[in-house]
Amino acid sequence: MQSYLQITTFTFSLLIIYSLSLPSPTQANNFVTTIEDEQEVQQLIGLNFNKQKLTHFKLYWHDVLSGPNPTSVSVINPPNKNSPTGFGTTNMIDNPLTYGPKLGSKLAGRAQGFYASACQKDVGLLMAMNFAFMEGKYNGSTITVLGRNMVFDKIREMPIIGGSGLFRFARGYVQARTNTFNLKNGDATVQYDCYVMHY
Ligand SMILES: *[C@@H]1O[C@H](CO)[C@@H](O)[C@H](O)[C@H]1NC(C)=O
Repeated sequence: MQSYLQITTFTFSLLIIYSLSLPSPTQANNFVTTIEDEQEVQQLIGLNFNKQKLTHFKLYWHDVLSGPNPTSVSVINPPNKNSPTGFGTTNMIDNPLTYGPKLGSKLAGRAQGFYASACQKDVGLLMAMNFAFMEGKYNGSTITVLGRNMVFDKIREMPIIGGSGLFRFARGYVQARTNTFNLKNGDATVQYDCYVMHY
């Protein structure tokens, strides 16, 4: 009985010594801070959380496959040559985004990313791209579009899943409408109406 008590006391003191050598809870958690003060938030990220706004951009997206300087290049050809939809085919893009429907009209930025045939029965693409703005107020800011694009539908809606710069914490959607499509070389111009909620 006596030795049992001694062992217990010994274990107990060991536990106390061990717990004293542990960092205090504040020390253990100092990699994370929660900022609740509005002014501090604004100072830290330069955005006003009380003022959410909706911005609409009407842009034209140019998928240029032809000519000496294509902005859309095939990086994966259809793995299954018999697939009617070219399932798996993937294009990497650095497509101009312009204010007007003409390729030569004023450049707003570039759509950088890829699209891939992700549908076995219909012509449907997975679009994964960043709209990098390169002009005016939004120069340097980006929004990210990730969505399903059934290219023969009149209007295709895809989510805007985030952004950077002036579009931090952004979300929204785009509506894509084919403006021109060249059956011979595959070049296309698509109107993108972007609706972005941001601060
Ligand atoms: C956009 O920003 C870049 C980097 O700051 C700058 O070099 C460029 O001239 C700007 N473009 C326009 C059109 O203002």
